[in-house]
Amino acid sequence: MSLLSVENLKTYYQVRRGFVKAVDGVSFSVQKGEATGLAGESGCGKTTVALSILKILPPGGRILSGQIFFKGKDLVALPEDEIRENIRWKEISIVFQGAMNALNPVFKIGDQIAEAIMLHEKEASKSEAYDRASKLFELVGIPPSRLDNYPHEFSGGMKQRAMIAMALACNPSLLIADEPSTALDVIVAAQVLKLIKELKSRLGLSMMLITHDLSIIAETCEWCVIMYGGKVVESGSTVAVFKNPLHPYTHGLISSFPSIKGARAKLGFIPGQPPDLLNPPSGCVFHPRCKYAMAKCKAKEPLYIEVEKGHSVSCHLVS
Ligand SMILES: Nc1ncnc2c1ncn2[C@@H]1O[C@H](COP(=O)(O)OP(=O)(O)O)[C@@H](O)[C@H]1O
Ligand code: SF4
Ligand SMILES: [Mg+2]
Repeated sequence: MSLLSVENLKTYYQVRRGFVKAVDGVSFSVQKGEATGLAGESGCGKTTVALSILKILPPGGRILSGQIFFKGKDLVALPEDEIRENIRWKEISIVFQGAMNALNPVFKIGDQIAEAIMLHEKEASKSEAYDRASKLFELVGIPPSRLDNYPHEFSGGMKQRAMIAMALACNPSLLIADEPSTALDVIVAAQVLKLIKELKSRLGLSMMLITHDLSIIAETCEWCVIMYGGKVVESGSTVAVFKNPLHPYTHGLISSFPSIKGARAKLGFIPGQPPDLLNPPSGCVFHPRCKYAMAKCKAKEPLYIEVEKGHSVSCHLVS
């Protein structure tokens, strides 16, 4: 059953020169207890999808249309006070890229986590909040004695673990992780991802994992959604999409993926620039960079078609 179902979501940013079509008709879902990976190059709209779900868009950003069903309720239509009271942090929480820098340097980490717990669970006393914070630390693999530390006493990886602990403070059913390991070095990044995977199975968490790195999705997610230029170009089970990628953009991404033998396969460099979402290309958004582009690709946007059960693609080569 879908826990979250995003349907035809459009989120634009109003800027001086017009509208940035950051998310332009995106649909996908997250199943209970499973992970959906959202992948695509920088600037394709991944973070905007996450911010739309949590309804924390920056000024100028607005959901124009679409629905975001969570446990049967449309979050787009839900009033802000209800989202604040019942959804944000309690049901859906997020760990941002470089979130570790969000810790306040002048307060002890334990105090910051306890504070966050008390903010969201008004009945919790200070000692209950500390208790919970120390359990959360154990959960993310930090000795609870380190709750007394200040942020500068933590490594980058530990800070990111602390942020994950904070995101789990209110037992959310959906965790959104937006490039959770991007700012970390390779070994620490692998440890953080391993933790995320463990938490998913141990807590039965449902997850939306945002990344520009397909290998992370291959390791962590049952489902994947490939975004390009504010749109979903392909989606399906991770196995199906990796085994049988149908969109030329997915092909490019997958060939930039290190081969199983360990040797880095030739980087699937896709020539050209990501589209300017203030003025996106006509027809298929990928056409200026696609080596298979035909006349109709420039004229007509391809339909998003289900080619096998649960595996859909938007490309004129298929439709
Ligand atoms: N606050 C903002 N104001 C205007 N444009 C924005 C803002 N935030 C993001 N954008 C634009 O929206 C598009 C999608 O950005 P984003 O969702 O951050 O993509 P990603 O997370 O995939 O890198 C980009 O073109 C980006 O420049
Ligand atoms: S629709 Fe045309 S331009 Fe777009 S990905 Fe398919 S072949 Fe390439
Ligand atoms: Mg982003």
